[in-house]
Amino acid sequence: MTKIDIKSSLETIQNIAKINQGKNLKYSILTMGCQLNENDSEKLCGMMEEMNYTKVENLKEADLIVFNTCCVRENAEDRLFGKLGEVKKYKEERGTIIAIGGCMMQEKHIVEKLKQSYPFFDIVFGPHTLKQFPIDLYKIIENKKRVEDILDIDGEIIEGLPIKREDAIKASVAIMNGCNNFCSYCIVPYVRGRERSREPKDIIEEVQALAKQGYKEIMLLGQNVNSYLRVERENHIPFEEYEGVNSFATLLRAINKIEDIERIRFISPHPKDFTDDVIEAIRDCDKVCKLVHLPLQSGSTEVLKVMNRKYTKEQYLTLVEKMKKTIPNLTLSTDIIVGFPGEAEEDFEDTLDVVQKVNYEQVYMFIYSRRVGTPGDKMENQIPEEIKHERFDRLKQLVEKQIAIKNKEYIGTIQQILIEGKSKTNETMLTGRTDSNKVVVLEGEDSLIGKNVPLKIVSEHMWYLKGVVVNG
Ligand code: SAH
Ligand code: SF4
Ligand code: F3S
Repeated sequence: MTKIDIKSSLETIQNIAKINQGKNLKYSILTMGCQLNENDSEKLCGMMEEMNYTKVENLKEADLIVFNTCCVRENAEDRLFGKLGEVKKYKEERGTIIAIGGCMMQEKHIVEKLKQSYPFFDIVFGPHTLKQFPIDLYKIIENKKRVEDILDIDGEIIEGLPIKREDAIKASVAIMNGCNNFCSYCIVPYVRGRERSREPKDIIEEVQALAKQGYKEIMLLGQNVNSYLRVERENHIPFEEYEGVNSFATLLRAINKIEDIERIRFISPHPKDFTDDVIEAIRDCDKVCKLVHLPLQSGSTEVLKVMNRKYTKEQYLTLVEKMKKTIPNLTLSTDIIVGFPGEAEEDFEDTLDVVQKVNYEQVYMFIYSRRVGTPGDKMENQIPEEIKHERFDRLKQLVEKQIAIKNKEYIGTIQQILIEGKSKTNETMLTGRTDSNKVVVLEGEDSLIGKNVPLKIVSEHMWYLKGVVVNG
């Protein structure tokens, strides 16, 4: 696998650190995308802190503002433009450096729009040029000349950037980058480039180090995690097997052996790549949570075909049955898009039917959003907005009804909860999650934070449960 040399980035970080020393400079970062985007933000924060910037929430106080953008749906893009309107005055008042990164910057029409309507930005960089960020920043500090640093690259892996993690108990670890699936609605393959996996050794050593630092839960990230190392295997791209790891299933088994890690989660797998070895690994590994996110997108075989998802309604349901049979206590969550071009009422009813049958723990619902450059955008049979919204509401009703029933079933049960910290809404309570990723609040000593404890669930609320510690 091609690894990028980051020596010049690390040297530049040290140079900027010297320039900034004693100046008490501040940075703010806005993260607008998925967990991979958040993981990139943690690396940007790591770099900025090493460069002697301290984090502030209030954009007004910042000397450097970084936007880490997302373009998966239109509303993600709108957020950036709204915020740019706000930061323009800070730029004028105090010369704040404005850097815009992330997936949206890989779209040429967006960068053009920025130049036309928001020409005050200093740096644009894409997800492939994360390591360039300090180098671009240095150019701005030294000669105040605007830098555009966007690359169309296919298959490189960056290792060794500094990282500052948001959380002390849960850590996310990207295991692969990019996507080769080209679902016809989705922009991700165009902005994140081709699928490529990290070396097993790099991942395992990162998780071992996290365990030593006291992290308890590891979230493995990728656009298509269960095809980890597949592209490499199929195309004879050399990688080094390490501790028996040569696939996603073997990776789960290896991480399961790492001492002091309590929980392992992963997103997102693709139903078409859910091979038996992965199902068996989930069953066998005690630390791997039994909540599996299995993106459905649509329940209609016709729509799935046009979406290029490579499975039918029946194949999806058969997979769910097999998983339920093999993995005791399995729970499922999913992503669904309503209003994809050509979606007829019967197609939508197929989606409702699958939701009814699978009985998900959680459903992330999206209204189809046209993305420039994708096949879906060019389709003529777009669905009118009011129909999309009406279907979305019907799906939401069904999901909420199912979740309400499920919540009731939790009452009186004993659940293993990994305590994550103090509740954000009530400082006197602690919060944690079940294996199935349900939020549970409880009263308890701070010493419980980071522990995996049995709780009895005593009451349920739509988005969380309440529990009490079971003694003895
Ligand atoms: N690689 C992951 C996640 C992709 S993005 C996966 O395949 O599951 C997360 C979710 O956003 C997708 O699962 C899909 O449900 C939704 N999504 C992607 N493109 C979209 C679009 N154009 N409109 C609406 N939702 C979209
Ligand atoms: Fe997008 Fe499909 Fe790739 Fe997921 S698998 S990132 S939905 S193209
Ligand atoms: Fe958005 Fe990029 Fe993630 S488009 S969903 S931030 S991969």
